[in-house]
Amino acid sequence: MKLRPMTDVDWLAVADLICVSTNYWYQMNRGFPIFANGPESVRLFCEVYEALDPGCCVLAEDENTGMLMGSCFYHPRPTHVSLGIMNVHPNYFGRGVARALLTHITDFSEADNKPVRLVSSAMNLDSFSLYTKAGFVPRQAFQDMMIDVPDRGLDFDVVGKERVREAELEDVTAIVALEKFVSGIDRTKDFEYLIQNKAGIWHTSVYEGLGGRIDGVLVSVNHPGSNMLGPGVMRSDESVLPLILAELNANIGRSPVFLVPVDSPVVRALYAWGARNCEVHFAQIRGSFQAFNGVVMPTFMPETG
Ligand SMILES: CC(C)(COP(=O)(O)OP(=O)(O)OC[C@H]1O[C@@H](n2cnc3c(N)ncnc32)[C@H](O)[C@@H]1OP(=O)(O)O)[C@@H](O)C(=O)NCCC(=O)NCCS
Repeated sequence: MKLRPMTDVDWLAVADLICVSTNYWYQMNRGFPIFANGPESVRLFCEVYEALDPGCCVLAEDENTGMLMGSCFYHPRPTHVSLGIMNVHPNYFGRGVARALLTHITDFSEADNKPVRLVSSAMNLDSFSLYTKAGFVPRQAFQDMMIDVPDRGLDFDVVGKERVREAELEDVTAIVALEKFVSGIDRTKDFEYLIQNKAGIWHTSVYEGLGGRIDGVLVSVNHPGSNMLGPGVMRSDESVLPLILAELNANIGRSPVFLVPVDSPVVRALYAWGARNCEVHFAQIRGSFQAFNGVVMPTFMPETG
């Protein structure tokens, strides 16, 4: 196999690969496809990731046939490298394609002396083993939860909901400082991109604590290729429910998925709101790691870990 960077002309083929690979795995192992809206909607990953990190998708190609065997996105940041969606075409499962793509990215991050962070499914031993064999360590488990938001929205009595407002670009410095405190990572460009919202698919709320300090942030995406809340970072549990409520209400008529730490006290309230579990994920980190100093709600795009 030959590894090379993705270019614009590869987008359709990569969207197709992500769709067929992920849907095949979920259909075989869980009995349902994850990307129900087909490869057109999955182009979203190429659009968002190329806007954020042009040239940071590595492809594996069959040297004899030119067929696309696998793809993986990565996101270099000042403090770390995030690994985005990793896919191998089902025809090539078990032949070392994912290992080759992963090694390319871990070599890249080692050259820069940075840890690599990702979110991997606890229900997918193929990817769990791929990562843990390469030195990744699961640091936090998350429940993936899902809530149906009716067209009239959700109206729960939540302490602190009046402290939530829509995020503005001027909040980015405070958001970045909050995430640096909670997770030790810096992703300024992600938050700038999400709040600028040129694609018109993102919504971001912040929670103002005492004295107007930004104590929490939560983003959501509303697109046929993704329907999730996250990324989110909160100084304490206090702002988690108000932010989740605000972002659910930014997605009326949909059923967003979001990840909350398995040990979070908000889980009980979320069940009372009608939340259902749909998967379990781990934040996995290869290299140095600072224990979380608050609450994180990762997502798969942009990937946090
Ligand atoms: C997960 C996925 C990327 C793996 O791709 P792959 O090319 O088949 O994986 P590889 O052949 O490179 O094997 C990966 C490693 O995991 C190891 N492995 C797999 N199952 C294992 C198990 N149960 N225990 C221990 N090791 C295991 C393999 O031996 C190999 O290790 P090695 O390189 O040290 O020999 C592929 O199944 C896929 O695309 N799935 C659908 C999409 C998906 O789940 N993506 C991951 C989301 S983050």
